[in-house]
Amino acid sequence: MTTDTEGWVRVCATSELLPGEMQTAWDGDTPILVFNHDGELYALEDRCSHEDFELSAGEFDPATGTIECVLHGAKFDVRDGRALCAPAYEPAIKFPVKVHDGAVWTRDDRD
Ligand code: FES
Repeated sequence: MTTDTEGWVRVCATSELLPGEMQTAWDGDTPILVFNHDGELYALEDRCSHEDFELSAGEFDPATGTIECVLHGAKFDVRDGRALCAPAYEPAIKFPVKVHDGAVWTRDDRD
């Protein structure tokens, strides 16, 4: 995984993340899921807040901007990580995302 001098991790080329698609990346030990929702990019930790399961195993619904955890059906808003239904109550952690040099970048900005 490519990392720039400021700690951003390259996810993929912008052409590999079209509206309605998602891609995963790792920043160190942190799995990150990046979404293209209607042309806007958003990044969440790839981890359900209910029981630590990868959200990327579920379906991204571009019509509503949500992703559903396949394990017990919790749903999250990809724009801000809000938990939308039980059994998850805590949000998924949101990370920054940027486009630079024709690629999508993200990073775990917690210190
Ligand atoms: S682990 Fe995601 S809903 Fe239970």
